[in-house]
Amino acid sequence: MAKNPNYLSGKEIRAIAKENAKVMKRLEAYKHRKCDESEYLTEMKDKSNILEIENLNTYFFTEQGVVKAVNGVSLNIPKNATVGIVGESGCGKSVTSMSVMRLIQGPTGQIYSGEIRFNATEKADDDRVVEKVYDIAKMPMRDIHKIRGNQIAMIFQEPMTSLNPVFTIGQQLDEVTFINKKGATKEEAKEKSMEMLNLVGIAAPDRVYAAFPHELSGGMRQRVMIAMALAADPRLIIADESTTALDVTIQAQILDLLRDLKDKIDGSIMLITHDLGIIAEMADYVIVMYAGKVIEQGTAKEIFHNPMHPYTIGLQKSKPTLKSDSDMLFNIPGNVPNPVNMPDHCYFKERCDMCLKKCSGDYPGMVKVSPTHYVACHLYEEDQK
Ligand SMILES: Nc1ncnc2c1ncn2[C@@H]1O[C@H](COP(=O)(O)OP(=O)(O)O)[C@@H](O)[C@H]1O
Ligand code: SF4
Ligand SMILES: [Mg+2]
Repeated sequence: MAKNPNYLSGKEIRAIAKENAKVMKRLEAYKHRKCDESEYLTEMKDKSNILEIENLNTYFFTEQGVVKAVNGVSLNIPKNATVGIVGESGCGKSVTSMSVMRLIQGPTGQIYSGEIRFNATEKADDDRVVEKVYDIAKMPMRDIHKIRGNQIAMIFQEPMTSLNPVFTIGQQLDEVTFINKKGATKEEAKEKSMEMLNLVGIAAPDRVYAAFPHELSGGMRQRVMIAMALAADPRLIIADESTTALDVTIQAQILDLLRDLKDKIDGSIMLITHDLGIIAEMADYVIVMYAGKVIEQGTAKEIFHNPMHPYTIGLQKSKPTLKSDSDMLFNIPGNVPNPVNMPDHCYFKERCDMCLKKCSGDYPGMVKVSPTHYVACHLYEEDQK
């Protein structure tokens, strides 16, 4: 009888578990090692970027096998730019952003390899501003406080789970200043908190400062989360589906707010969403992900006016109209392949209607179609022109 590739025998499961345990142990030890800062200091390849992700692999070591949630992702975030990351649910957007924040839950989840270079600015003891480039992927967990919160802040989808219900908004906001500014007084912290509440467009900051999270509406809570993210003066904000849970009018207000903030904080935004409409409105650059890989990237204009990858073309065609539900966004027929058993060829092949003979061969490399536009598809390789 032919063997079902999705079926594992007891022996195979035990062998996978043993191998996984070995790798997880090694990576956990690496994460918790003691080391000198010089071990993870590096240089940016291009000084106009604030973040450079190069060949990042983030895996989950499960009983069924290794889930390559992020599978060789490379992308750059320029200074003072908004970069949109788009792709259907499960393509690895959140795992990419959580890798940058080093929030991947071990021991199952691990950054397996790759570089995450971040251009940090720090105040030295004599108040001079010094620039340092960290490879976040190599930082030991004990040093993550150097970037998390103060240099890079994240705004999540559901603010209620990120706010503590037993403390007032003011207490939680003040805490950010206490953590990030050594020796800050209570008055200084409150002043900063009120400034941030004003910045995010809250009309009655005094009332909100004294309120508990449950006393606020969803939109207000999301504003508070943004205020909290900003209180530490981050240089990069990661917004992961941060407006998805809000209704349309509030969503528009929060997006307006984010757009203004980029200029106010003189920083960059990594905007993650499954909604192409939001990307079109907000992003300077667009990264399209599919099954753990970047399959196309370019300026917003290039991606919207000249989409090249059959998947991106499909996404555009399935863009929602006013009448359609946003959950209907991705209606390209077929499914993403099983993440444990990825094929060697293009992952989109089974859903692609432009397939060539060559597409059964190796996974396509990135083809450069303009200085800013890249696509991973055999259609655009030199020998096809
Ligand atoms: N804790 C986990 N254990 C196993 N697999 C996971 C875990 N978290 C995420 N994944 C897998 O990683 C892939 C990418 O997930 P994610 O980054 O959350 O997708 P999205 O693009 O929707 O944000 C998915 O296949 C998901 O099932
Ligand atoms: S490489 Fe081939 S299968 Fe993959 S998207 Fe391009 S044309 Fe389709
Ligand atoms: Mg996600």
